[in-house]
Amino acid sequence: MKKSLLVVSVSFALLNMSGIAQAVGDISAGQGKSGTCASCHGENGNSMMPLFPKLAAQNEGYLVKQMHAFKDGSRSDPTMASMVAGLSDQDIEDIAVYYEAQAVTANSEPQINPDDLDEIDDNDSLSEDEKTAARKALQDKQGALIAQGYDVYRNGDLDNEISACIACHGPEGEGNEPASFPALKGQHADYLIKTLTDFKTDVRSNNPDNMMHMIAKKMTDEKIKAIAYYVSVMK
Ligand code: HEC
Ligand code: HEC
Repeated sequence: MKKSLLVVSVSFALLNMSGIAQAVGDISAGQGKSGTCASCHGENGNSMMPLFPKLAAQNEGYLVKQMHAFKDGSRSDPTMASMVAGLSDQDIEDIAVYYEAQAVTANSEPQINPDDLDEIDDNDSLSEDEKTAARKALQDKQGALIAQGYDVYRNGDLDNEISACIACHGPEGEGNEPASFPALKGQHADYLIKTLTDFKTDVRSNNPDNMMHMIAKKMTDEKIKAIAYYVSVMK
């Protein structure tokens, strides 16, 4: 009897300790500590470089998880591993709440590959009308790709057993904060393509229950591009 009481009080003590040990983030401290991050992730977490993800408005739980994952190597990226190596748990919390509190900027519409346009312009065997038609066909193809992304995001793809992204990433790509499912809204298309391909090929393999791997491996490269283009400009 005495023994079990002791066990109960010890576990209460442990519970309390873990309550105290839980770091609580401080936004202004986080702003100071994120100075070195700005060179790649931009002012206020709005990176200008297509392969450097935006961190602005991302939820704290997801950011904390990713920083720890780079630190312990369960998400592997040599650059990020060295960036987080010296951060304490408190630093990570502070930086996460700082980025969560920032607004994410919108992207411009994905551009048609300029090489494709040059190819049409430089093709002397085409008349001006034919060139105009060829440019329009490219535009239409791009529009169709974004429409396909919209459809998969909202409805999934039953034939290929791809779950609708909206279920976890939200109607506006805002993510799911209590579950720490990441926001996708405003993210760069090139980073989305890169990271979805990493999930698909198991380069990025620390996702809970392997859920993003299971989804991405059923997506063709074309479908990944479609969804990335759509998500990068979703309103
Ligand atoms: C030299 C450029 C560079 C610097 C500086 C940098 N990062 Fe990164 N960061 C990256 C790249 C590149 C990725 C994407 C890695 C990948 O493709 O998996 C990334 C990814 C991340 C992610 C994951 C985002 C997501 O959506 O999953 C977080 C969080 C992050 N960085 C936080 C930080 C913090 C905090 C700092 C400063 C302490 C920092 N980074 C400094 C280049 C950088
Ligand atoms: C069952 C829930 C669920 C569904 C459905 C889902 N996701 Fe995810 N997604 C997650 C979780 C959880 C993560 C975070 C994984 C991690 O911790 O590494 C994630 C991460 C991502 C990321 C990485 C974000 C970043 O900043 O690096 C992208 C991109 C993504 N999902 C796209 C999609 C797309 C596109 C679909 C639909 C085809 C989809 N997801 C469907 C749960 C889901």
